[in-house]
Amino acid sequence: MVVDKGESEITIEIVNLPDTSARRSHTGEGGEVTTAATGGKLLGCIAVSFCLMCILQASLNICLRLALSSPPDIDCNCKNLTDERDNLRRINLDIEERYKILTEERDKLRRVLNDSALQLNSQAEEGGKLESQLNVLKHYLQQGWFSFSDSVYYISSTKKTWQDSRNDCLQRAADLVIIGSTEEQDFIKQHQKIMWIGLTDREMEGMWKWVDGSPLTTSLWDSGEPNSAGGNEDCVVMNSFKNVNSWNDERCENENFWMCEKKITL
Ligand code: BGC
Ligand code: CA
Repeated sequence: MVVDKGESEITIEIVNLPDTSARRSHTGEGGEVTTAATGGKLLGCIAVSFCLMCILQASLNICLRLALSSPPDIDCNCKNLTDERDNLRRINLDIEERYKILTEERDKLRRVLNDSALQLNSQAEEGGKLESQLNVLKHYLQQGWFSFSDSVYYISSTKKTWQDSRNDCLQRAADLVIIGSTEEQDFIKQHQKIMWIGLTDREMEGMWKWVDGSPLTTSLWDSGEPNSAGGNEDCVVMNSFKNVNSWNDERCENENFWMCEKKITL
């Protein structure tokens, strides 16, 4: 009897049996057992394959379900994200617009602040000047000067030539009086004196000029004056005993009282 390797295991089991006939009998059925085992293996393979196919099918179902159900979710998420993006863009535009407005307002306020600071400095400077002028006014009033309009005036108690009188005024940081209006003339007239005023034609005969170089505009000459009596009358006195028109040209070397004037602009 020829037994191949595949049958040897089965043959050994039969040898262990007590009965030889039984052994023979089993040995005689060896082909059927082999066939049954092979069929079992095949069935096993089929079952495993079937199981694998089931698993594969189930996986495929799941994948298909996921694949079919995913797009709406993604679309939904995309729409939300797009809306959110658009919303954020709108918010960003609003913020940019507000930033622009606030920046403009800030710049405007800075300009106002700078203007205010400049104005404050200017006012402080003005206040300083005013205080200084007030101190000057106070000083002259304490020295016995008297004020009218925006000037203070001094009347001498001694007599001098026109030039010496002028020099005295200059030493007092003033000059001989310049009479610019009838109101000023009226004010000066109260003092009842014959006084040198700051008017002369020494530089050119007949060309009357005030000591500050300005030409004569308001003339308040006494009647018949100026007459340059004797041909050499180049300086002017005001005779305050007379009417408003009370100026007379005299020789500059004559000695008279004089009046100084100091302008004080507050
Ligand atoms: C005349 C003046 C003149 C003066 C000189 C007067 O009588 O009216 O014009 O200036 O004398 O002292
Ligand atoms: Ca005269």
